[in-house]
Amino acid sequence: MEERSRLHRFLGPVFNYANNPLSIAGIVLTTVSGLSIVGFLVMEMAGAVRNPYVGIFAYVILPVIFVVGLAAIPLGMWLRRRKLLRRGVSARERGRYPRLDFNSPRLRRLGTAVIVLTAVNALIFGISSLLAVEHMESVEFCGTTCHNLMEPEYTSYQDSPHSRVSCVECHIGPGASWFVKAKLDGLRQVWRTARDTYERPISTPLHTLRPARETCEECHWPAKHYGDKIRTFARFATNEANTPSYTVMLLKTGGGSLDLGRHGGIHWWHSYDNRIRYLSDEKRSEITWVELTNRDGEVRTYQREGAEAPAAEILAGARLMDCVDCHNRPTHLMAVPSRALDEELEIRPELAALPYYKREALAAVEGDGYVTHVEGVEAVREAVLAYYQEQYPDIWRERKQVVESGAEAASRVYARSYFPEMQTSWETHPNHIGHEDFPGCFRCHDEELATADGEHVISFDCENCHAFLVEDADAPPDLAALVNGG
Ligand code: HEC
Ligand code: HEC
Ligand code: HEC
Ligand code: HEC
Ligand code: HEC
Repeated sequence: MEERSRLHRFLGPVFNYANNPLSIAGIVLTTVSGLSIVGFLVMEMAGAVRNPYVGIFAYVILPVIFVVGLAAIPLGMWLRRRKLLRRGVSARERGRYPRLDFNSPRLRRLGTAVIVLTAVNALIFGISSLLAVEHMESVEFCGTTCHNLMEPEYTSYQDSPHSRVSCVECHIGPGASWFVKAKLDGLRQVWRTARDTYERPISTPLHTLRPARETCEECHWPAKHYGDKIRTFARFATNEANTPSYTVMLLKTGGGSLDLGRHGGIHWWHSYDNRIRYLSDEKRSEITWVELTNRDGEVRTYQREGAEAPAAEILAGARLMDCVDCHNRPTHLMAVPSRALDEELEIRPELAALPYYKREALAAVEGDGYVTHVEGVEAVREAVLAYYQEQYPDIWRERKQVVESGAEAASRVYARSYFPEMQTSWETHPNHIGHEDFPGCFRCHDEELATADGEHVISFDCENCHAFLVEDADAPPDLAALVNGG
């Protein structure tokens, strides 16, 4: 009996205080939002919803309502208690169950059920906030929430070797501290997006990116890098015949380390056993000072001819070279139009049979005056179609499908390279691999960065980086024959 009455002494005021509009509203809010979250969860598990906005609603907005409801319950109780105290209602009176409701055991059981439900609700909230975090990690969330804003990055990502790697694996990586940093940064960006004050284009490089070796090396670890890479470059002229030219080179990518007993080449020289630091402008395009430290701690510094020796405090801010100083576009590959068209021509030889295809497609893709991305995509297609309809009616009649696929290809190239709304194009986001379209490797390897004694320069020698196996052949080279010495 003693036990029971202690329970009464506790439950009495709880139910009494809870008997106010604010707390009751809170109970309704938590129950409804909690059940909705469960509903969305079931639907998502059943594969019925994939839209990111539904995700935001289910895992961000509903939990907020849930929490507000949850907070309203004790707040209402506290306010009512204060009111009763002020009115001088006695403790005994305050300890009474609300008159109408809870003196009957049946209703008391109901009350207990409400309490249990609230506990369950709290559990649901815990799970749903975990899901919210997970949702914010998803590619759909990163790529489409601020749709215009991320369109260039999202589009180029989908078409890249990393299209199955989630944004957060490169942009946040493992561990909690960068996660928190990224979320705070994200909040700032949401704020900017909401007020429409974000910068266009989103500037590159990212000065706050986590050191790439902590992210990239989750998948590409040093011991995995060794051996070189054979690459074939197919290029097409802008003449009537779209004349092809094929170059095959052995890119000396290398890798490894002294410990592995296998080392050398491009990867080994700039990371792993060595450490390179450099000074440059904001954009990392003009490099004025470079320092190489090898594994034994020997240091060599190179300086651009005529430049002043940098002061110590400037040197302290030098950037440590990592993967993204070369692979700055491992996934956001804005296609260089001429190259991207070469790729289309290489995999679709029938296009090369269309007279002046490359010239016309390139002119359409590079044409200006497209105000929106969508408009440009359509206009490029139309321009290529119109050219063949007007200049080569016979071809249009006999090879309509080829012309149409050529128009589609040009339109695809545009779609990967130009984003007028974001003032972004392949030109605003240079790629540092190579040296043909952008300075790339030649930012350092131009033979103008030299040690003080003039003994060492950062070399420009073609053969250091790649050996030509075939140069400017007019037909696709037979690699097997090449390897067998044929
Ligand atoms: C394979 C790794 C990788 C993945 C996956 C990845 N990024 Fe990036 N991202 C990078 C690198 C590297 C940079 C540029 C670093 C630099 O030059 O400072 C970058 C730059 C950006 C930029 C700055 C603008 C620019 O283009 O340089 C944005 C915005 C961005 N990423 C968004 C995304 C979004 C959204 C996703 C997922 C849809 C994503 N990233 C997936 C590696 C990645
Ligand atoms: C979650 C794993 C993962 C992470 C993290 C990752 N990559 Fe990759 N990367 C891959 C996979 C998978 C491929 C495709 C391999 C293939 O096609 O053989 C790839 C391919 C590449 C390639 C070759 C591309 C080509 O055209 O063949 C480069 C270069 C590369 N990654 C660089 C990077 C850089 C730089 C980073 C960090 C900014 C990074 N990766 C982060 C998994 C990852
Ligand atoms: C000095 C510039 C440079 C640095 C620094 C660099 N790479 Fe590379 N990497 C290259 C070049 C050049 C290639 C060949 C590109 C090509 O295929 O044309 C390459 C190729 C690759 C490939 C594809 C390999 C293959 O055989 O297909 C991967 C993966 C890769 N790099 C990952 C990394 C990672 C991870 C880091 C950082 C630890 C890194 N790279 C640092 C220049 C660099
Ligand atoms: C930030 C400056 C910097 C950039 C950018 C850079 N390198 Fe280097 N690289 C160096 C330095 C420093 C050395 C050591 C030079 C020496 O031998 O004294 C070096 C050495 C090399 C070597 C060894 C042979 C040699 O020349 O001595 C190769 C190969 C190489 N780099 C390739 C590349 C490639 C490919 C790229 C572009 C994808 C690139 N580097 C970009 C700084 C750079
Ligand atoms: C510091 C290293 C480095 C040096 C020095 C260098 N290259 Fe390259 N080169 C590269 C890399 C890396 C690529 C691959 C680019 C890519 O992956 O698209 C390349 C690609 C090329 C290509 C193919 C370009 C294309 O897209 O059609 C040609 C041609 C070329 N180099 C010529 C030369 C010549 C000629 C020299 C000497 C004057 C030279 N390179 C010096 C690193 C170098």
